Amino acid sequence: MMTVRIFEDHDSLSAAAADMIIDTVIKKPAAVLCFATGNTPVRTYQWLIEKARQSNTSFSSCFCIGLDEWAGVPPNKPGTCHYLLHQQVFDPLGIQPAQIHLFDGMNAAIQDECSKMDEIIETRGGIDCMVVGIGLNGHIGFNEPGVDVSLKAHDQVLMESTLASGQHYFNEPTPISRGITLGMAQVLKANRLLLLANGKHKAPIIQKALEAAVSNEVPASYVQLCDNAMVLLDREAASELSTWN
Ligand code: PGA
Repeated sequence: MMTVRIFEDHDSLSAAAADMIIDTVIKKPAAVLCFATGNTPVRTYQWLIEKARQSNTSFSSCFCIGLDEWAGVPPNKPGTCHYLLHQQVFDPLGIQPAQIHLFDGMNAAIQDECSKMDEIIETRGGIDCMVVGIGLNGHIGFNEPGVDVSLKAHDQVLMESTLASGQHYFNEPTPISRGITLGMAQVLKANRLLLLANGKHKAPIIQKALEAAVSNEVPASYVQLCDNAMVLLDREAASELSTWN
């Protein structure tokens, strides 16, 4: 069963998430870490950099992967997961290219791209700590409603709501239609899965994901079954829950 923790605000939630990442790396310097992009974890990554400096935690032995990527968008374009993770996490923490594997959204052979990621996760013994957000439609990564939750890395046609919020990450209109993502099978197998959500706009989907029946119509609802999952919410995102309020 998942653990749910409710924080006063986004900042305290983010500080707690950063502590858990640091704790993972202190206990296992060669940890495999997986990071999501989006608005939700931005503050977590700022805290992570600050706390890594304060605690003198070295990330020099860890290995980092990305949760997902837009297909067909060059990686160095501002707004891609590749670009944002370098800017918000890898560069400030001094994580070297040899310690990173991200989906290449420009590889037309998407199946090869997926197999490569699956193999890396497998040979490195799985993911030690994974940070994810939740979409307004209940997705994790690009695992959209209706997804086969037994899938590992795969590509996915994205829903209108995902494409609309995705557009906000780019500084100019960018054609997007598909995404490449780790599958729910990999998300749910992480040794430590941190699902973060903040803000009133996330309250209805958090209520569904945590309190309605588990269903692939709300992919994030599978965290209910996941002993290793910790759901970190601010008061606003938790405001429609009945079990935890
Ligand atoms: P957000 O996106 O963090 O920008 O709200 C979350 C998601 O769509 O997974």
